[in-house]
Amino acid sequence: MKSVELEAQLLAQVDLDRLPRHIAVIMDGNGRWAKRRRLPRIAGHRAGIRAVRQAVEACARLGVPYLTLYAFSVENWKRPHTEIKLLMGLLREYLKKEIAELNKQNIRLGVIGRISELPKPVQADLENALERTAQNTGLRLTLALNYGARAELLDAVRDLVTHAKQNGALAIDEAALREHLYTRDLPDPDLLIRTSGELRLSNFLLWQVAYSEIWVTETLWPDFTQQDLIQAIIDYQKRERRYGGLGLG
Ligand code: FPP
Repeated sequence: MKSVELEAQLLAQVDLDRLPRHIAVIMDGNGRWAKRRRLPRIAGHRAGIRAVRQAVEACARLGVPYLTLYAFSVENWKRPHTEIKLLMGLLREYLKKEIAELNKQNIRLGVIGRISELPKPVQADLENALERTAQNTGLRLTLALNYGARAELLDAVRDLVTHAKQNGALAIDEAALREHLYTRDLPDPDLLIRTSGELRLSNFLLWQVAYSEIWVTETLWPDFTQQDLIQAIIDYQKRERRYGGLGLG
């Protein structure tokens, strides 16, 4: 079947009234994709950007309100210096090249993570991209950069305590903690996608994915297409979400 036909067939199965509000993605397998082709790892990351475009476009087209992508973790600093440098370069290239397209698709960019620890030129490009897409009202695309869920929870607790000292009162409940997470402006993900077959959360949004549906595919991230994203939504819509209760019977 041609890819256009396949896509139309998949789209017909999507219930647009029950789309996930927030999709989060662990983009994994760039290195393996490159290795299979005897290419340097960075070629895998570069191909990964194509897949980023696919996922972003699919969400924007369908009307999914929030998409969050795990682009660089706090643990990724352990990688060879050259790979980190090239990844940061790719990110800067993406930010510069993509602003026009993001604006065209009415997409607003956001970031989560310890952004102040990123190289200064990356921070400057991020600020510029955030500012230039701030007025957009469509898809909210969040990049997790220098992100780690444990770091986020520690930062949130530290923030809570600092606030408590200033206000003379300390309320610790779910709502209070939530208010201090990097994701305070985002709903919790309904659907968490992970590519390349690994069954791990890898320190991603640990608090927020408490009740997310998890969808794992063997497909390596650079091969991920709009059709894969649509398939994930179709499968998600077949699941019964119970949030610890008994469901609707
Ligand atoms: C995982 O593959 C991927 C990453 C650590 C980085 C993800 C980055 C991109 C997709 C490109 C840049 C992103 C943006 C938004 C500009 P891996 O290297 O861990 O793969 P492996 O497990 O097969 O080695």
